[in-house]
Amino acid sequence: MTKRSDSPKMNSTWVDEDTANYLRLRVKTFYNADYFERVVLPLLNIPQHGQVLDVGCGYGGLSTILAELRPDLQITGLDIEAAALESAANGARQNGLTNLTFEQGDAHRLKYEDCRFAAVLCQTVLTHVQDAGSVVREMARVLKSNGVFMAAEYTSIGPVSTYNSVEDEKRDDAWYEKIFRLSRLLIKGKRALGRGDDRLGVRVPLLAAAAGLDVFDVRLNDRVLHVIPPYVHPKQADYLELLRAYYAPDPDCKGLTQNIELMRAAGGTEEDAEWFYNSGDTAAVRQAITDGNLTEISAYMLYLTFAREPDQDIR
Ligand SMILES: C[S@@+](CC[C@H](N)C(=O)[O-])C[C@H]1O[C@@H](n2cnc3c(N)ncnc32)[C@H](O)[C@@H]1O
Repeated sequence: MTKRSDSPKMNSTWVDEDTANYLRLRVKTFYNADYFERVVLPLLNIPQHGQVLDVGCGYGGLSTILAELRPDLQITGLDIEAAALESAANGARQNGLTNLTFEQGDAHRLKYEDCRFAAVLCQTVLTHVQDAGSVVREMARVLKSNGVFMAAEYTSIGPVSTYNSVEDEKRDDAWYEKIFRLSRLLIKGKRALGRGDDRLGVRVPLLAAAAGLDVFDVRLNDRVLHVIPPYVHPKQADYLELLRAYYAPDPDCKGLTQNIELMRAAGGTEEDAEWFYNSGDTAAVRQAITDGNLTEISAYMLYLTFAREPDQDIR
């Protein structure tokens, strides 16, 4: 998938309606329904009635999964964007979740006292902040002794993680060489503008260790997204909805404007940005979705880093 970059043009990008809708749909496709219950919750092992902080909670995707599975926990979602928090709070109300509260704040300077939370989590946030190391240190600071840290963050690997029946056959070696070169420029541009690092996921265990945490496991999320005609299986429905949003027409060319800015910041050209933006055959893919004959299989891999705040006595 190459049409849109995942990176924010500026903070207000997160409250743009299309982006908000796309993020809400995408969060629903990170995990299979049983993965959190069977794998993540036992690893977190949060004590009964523990206080949990979800840093960069956005529209409340991660907080909501946890709040539904563990109604005993007191979960605080923190985000820099007031509009996202309002939407998250509305969602919680609609779902009847009373163990969730949302607060505004900057992850680089958490407004909580030391050693407050039994668990501190984040999901697709460290790739978007200016200084991921300082955010991880802040997350460690507000963790109790033996408290648990989890970060679910991606490392961008671009089109190698996707098979698309309309586009794959048209792509030759030259296309792949160009897409990798330009993807790299976009990542460099995002870093140069202080908007985060799309290759950060794989380095989060190192940041956690550097913050004094004891990294006890690193996993991947488990969902392989797939739509295979005739789309009769219920699991394919949410991916199809996500694809419709992803391949929707972009009349204002918001994605292109963003790509031009990032590309220029990394020394690339406007032509590079345009080529990248037009590198997917979006009209043909849209038609295949409408005709019901698109096959797409894709992994949006998140590295899940699990770490613990060491017991103060043995530190
Ligand atoms: C890709 S979204 C992820 C949202 C949510 N964690 C999820 O998985 O659905 C990234 C979020 O990080 C938030 N964010 C970015 N920089 C931040 C900062 N410095 N402090 C707090 N939140 C921040 C954005 O406002 C946005 O809601």
